[in-house]
Parts: sequence; C-alpha cells; structure tokens
Amino acid sequence: MSAPVVPARTPRAILDTSDFARDMAACLGSRPHEISPKYFYDERGSRLFDRICELPEYYVTRTELGIFQRDIARMADAIGPDAEVIEFGAGSLTKARLLLRALQRPRRYVAVDISAEHLQAATASLQQEFPEVEIIPVVGDFTNMAGLPALPRPRPGNRRIGFFPGSTLGNLGLGDARRFLSDASTLLAGGGLLIGIDLVKLPAVLHSAYNDAAGVTAAFNRNLLARANRELGTDFDVEAYAHHAFYHPGLQRIEMHLVCMTAQRVRLGEREFAIRAGDSLHTENSQKYTLDGFRSLAAASGFSPGAVWCDPQQLFSVHWLVSDHQRASTSPHHLENP
Ligand SMILES: C[S@@+](CC[C@H](N)C(=O)[O-])C[C@H]1O[C@@H](n2cnc3c(N)ncnc32)[C@H](O)[C@@H]1O
Repeated sequence: MSAPVVPARTPRAILDTSDFARDMAACLGSRPHEISPKYFYDERGSRLFDRICELPEYYVTRTELGIFQRDIARMADAIGPDAEVIEFGAGSLTKARLLLRALQRPRRYVAVDISAEHLQAATASLQQEFPEVEIIPVVGDFTNMAGLPALPRPRPGNRRIGFFPGSTLGNLGLGDARRFLSDASTLLAGGGLLIGIDLVKLPAVLHSAYNDAAGVTAAFNRNLLARANRELGTDFDVEAYAHHAFYHPGLQRIEMHLVCMTAQRVRLGEREFAIRAGDSLHTENSQKYTLDGFRSLAAASGFSPGAVWCDPQQLFSVHWLVSDHQRASTSPHHLENP
C-alpha cells in the first residue's frame, strides 16, 4: 500500500534580503572583510554543500553517519519516547531520517534552516515518509532564537529535544557558540540536545577536507559572491577570487577566505567599494574541539554533559547534553507560544 499523500506545509519564514545587503555593506566597508557563513546557503549553496558531504576528502559527514548508524539505538534510549525534535540547520534531513526511524513514537519534528527552497523540498519529502509525525519547516536564523517564528508548545507528556548534527556549531565563534547553547538550554527545558562536534586532529587531514581536489569547496565558497551578484545586484568579478582554507592550530579552527587577485570596484546599491589585489574576505570558521573542551563549554552554557559517542579514530563526536532547566508549566520563552 502506498503512503498517504500529505500536503507540504508552507514554511514559517522571517527572512528578507535586506539583512544580506546590510551585512555585505558592513563587510565591504570595514577591514578585515568578514561576513557570516549563513549567507552561503541559498538553493545553489545547499546543493553544493550536499556535494561536499559526498567528497572523499570530507570525512565529517561519512564519519558522523557511521557513528549514528552504529549507536542510534543508544541515542534514542537516552532521548526517550514521545520526543518533539527541533533540528537547527536541518539541511537535507539525512540524519533526521535516521533519528526519526530510531526514536520511540516521535511526535513532532521542527526543521529550522535559513535556506528556504531547500528546506521546503526536504520537509515535504520527509512528511511523506513519516505521515504520523507533525513536521514543521521554519525558515529562520538559529543564532537569533528570539527572532524565530513562534513554535507550538510541547504537548503534555512530550519532551522537547534539540538536534544539531554536522558540527554546524563550529561555524560560530566561541562567544556565539556559548550564547547559542545557553539559548538552546532554555528552549529545551526538561529535555536535551543531541549534537555532533568535529574534533581536533592532524592538520593535514583537516587541510585536505577543506581543499578538495574537485574544487567543490572552492565553488561553495565563491557562491557567496555569486549569490550577492544574483540577489543584491553587486558586480563582483567572482573568478578573480581564490579559495583559501587553512588550519590555525593556535585557535583550533579552519578558516575559509576568498582572496581577491585583481583590484576591483564593487557596486552595492548606491555605494561603491574599492577592493585591493590581495584583500581577503573571511567567509567561514570551523572550530574543532577536544572532547573535554566541548564538554566544559556545554557545562558552562546550561547543559549537563551525558553520553558521548565517537568513531574508532576519534575524528568526530556526538554528545547527549541534558538541559539544566526544568520545564515550567508556563514558560516565559516566546517560542512556547502557540
Ligand atoms: C554544515 S550544514 C549541516 C547540514 C545538516 N545538519 C548536516 O548535518 O548535514 C549547515 C546547515 O545549516 C544551515 N544554516 C547555516 N547557518 C544557519 C543559521 N544561522 N540559521 C539557520 N540555518 C543555518 C544551512 O542552510 C545548512 O543547511
């Protein structure tokens, strides 16, 4: 028997391009040039990211999926039945599928992502596979939880669980990571967070993961400027920018930059910005953690660290964190509002 057809929900959305225009103007108008990696993800950026996940050099996705496949039943036991899952930066929902299949009576799944079209398509297909789970796409920025559209209050007896795989937390600076975790611990009062974290390892392994031979990561990086040309009407000479990614051992992070090889003037609305040959535009950080370092960060940000699952080579880790907040009968957090 074929599955019942479930209509795709319209995402709850709060984005508009004026944020991108404002942040790009701030980036070009100050030095060093720096912009949030969240702007990588339009439809094309999300598809390029999916290709990165399949690259032989990119151990991250393969390794995390291996951990999930081996230990998902134990993770589901830690989470317990009747979960209402909120995934931050949900992407193509590959890992959400594994989790929903393993959980006992998952009740609701809220996918938060900034990439609107991609999210709509991915959640529509997930709803077909899980007709009994209420699936809610939310287009929004997880670094601004107070600005997300209101979510339904968890039903009596259900627990709110956060899911944050892919080491996406590593794209946030340490201060923002602490703020995110602290906001998440309030939102997830009475529940917890299952989070994937990439670990410190040999610099050569990290270097090749972010400098693949096929040039997909370079195309992903340059898509930020191509997207600005498409959406903001800028006139970046995209091909003049070289992809530059390296590991900084002191800061334990990969830095990704676009280095301009020829001087150019870039228009953005009424303004024009002079870019010098050799100028770097810093597009992304990817923080790597030690197991103890991450557990300390979580403990200082409103969570009690629980079980940790790693691959045999300790390339990657998945952590179960229990929120230090108890669930109040009427929580003041605005996301509780129906
Ligand atoms: C590194 S990918 C991870 C995707 C998926 N969770 C996985 O593990 O494969 C990051 C995802 O988060 C989304 N994203 C990045 N920054 C975001 C933000 N500030 N708010 C909401 N979504 C964001 C991107 O669109 C993308 O789908």
